[in-house]
Amino acid sequence: MQTTEARFEKLGPEYQQEPHAVHERLRAVGPVSELVLPRGLKVWVVTRYEEARIALSDNRFSKDFSKAGDLFGRHLQPGAPRREFDQSFASHMLNSDPPAHNRLRKLVNKAFTARRMEALRPRIQEITDQLLDEMVGKSEVDLLDALAFPLPITVICELLDVPMDQRDDFRVWSGTLLTDSKQEDVDAAAASMYAFLAALIESKRATPGDDIFSALVHASEDDDRLDQTELISMAFLLLVAGHETTVNLIGNGVLALLRNPDQLAALRADRSLLPGAVEEFLRLDGPINLATFRYTSEDVELGGVTIPAGEIALVSLLGANRDPEKFPEPDRMDITRQTGGHVAFGHGIHFCLGAPLARLEGAIAVGSLLDRFDIELAGEPETLRWRESTLLHGLERFPVSLSDRG
Ligand code: HEM
Repeated sequence: MQTTEARFEKLGPEYQQEPHAVHERLRAVGPVSELVLPRGLKVWVVTRYEEARIALSDNRFSKDFSKAGDLFGRHLQPGAPRREFDQSFASHMLNSDPPAHNRLRKLVNKAFTARRMEALRPRIQEITDQLLDEMVGKSEVDLLDALAFPLPITVICELLDVPMDQRDDFRVWSGTLLTDSKQEDVDAAAASMYAFLAALIESKRATPGDDIFSALVHASEDDDRLDQTELISMAFLLLVAGHETTVNLIGNGVLALLRNPDQLAALRADRSLLPGAVEEFLRLDGPINLATFRYTSEDVELGGVTIPAGEIALVSLLGANRDPEKFPEPDRMDITRQTGGHVAFGHGIHFCLGAPLARLEGAIAVGSLLDRFDIELAGEPETLRWRESTLLHGLERFPVSLSDRG
């Protein structure tokens, strides 16, 4: 067994701007590091691929925080502002261990299979085309506002039959909940989000539709029935996971192409490379970083380090996906490389439910964008900033200049 000393250091806000350099440094020391996140939470972070797969799938890394007591309170550094998380949204599959996890996931699994998603292709294409039509004649747009955000939120809202009129509010609330915002803003966003989801469930109760939510709300007595907190939590998870991530797949993917003109040219020349390119976007600069919260239900030996029971463990998905032991020359973008086994969608029983949908949306969005426009970065690349979040890895803004390909 390799013995590696765990590292202990505090990550500053600059980490969010340059995460890859930090992971490379940590990985060189060992697979597991003891870190304090920018907002003062002490965690164990896994940055090497092999150990990452173990931490994501070994059941000694639990997701059932209800059994962990005041887990987050215990691991805050003295003086760090305590950020309360609203528990009203927390009773969902991503916070559950088996058997509760199986029960919750089973209720929606069938609705999100690759086959079911493939049937949505024409509609996803139609929404994409409408968004691209609105870009025609403009010399500059913010690609996040024009395409990367509205596409996935429209698709998931249609799939769940959620009214679109509060789409922009919803974007603000979920952005506040997922980034390093002030506590009062978090509380206000959580209250608005709760009211929105409760009203949604009420409307499904009164007027059921032919959608997944209505089916969940109206599950008969014989079927599995979700209580109100579980319904709210399921709605929250699907809606938030359904758009906060895919926006970054599209944004980060297009950015990587613009920074690697040879790869962009290769993709333009051979459209059959598109599915592989989407996987490389996910590997190279995936939408999610330190969001895979787990806690150790007992002492766990990982990569030569003993993580004591009751500690918070996180896999850096970005770090694992750039481990040179798994992906040679990991910082180089290569849309033809073998990306099999990347962990951008996680691994094990919590592997992303929405992966088939996200892949489809990513391929349609990027493929159609390239068909219709020549695009370039508007402004200097240095002016691009990543959002201040350790959970998500996505741009704050993404201005591009456009010319119609005719
Ligand atoms: C779980 C990534 C899109 C729904 C996960 C996990 C990751 C992930 C890493 C596992 C987290 C963990 O193990 O702690 C992504 C990425 C996406 C994406 C990178 C886009 C590119 C979506 C979409 C949906 C979705 C479109 C909408 C249905 C879920 C759900 C889970 C999940 C419900 C929990 C699964 C479980 O606990 O069994 N996702 N996701 N995701 N994702 Fe996604």
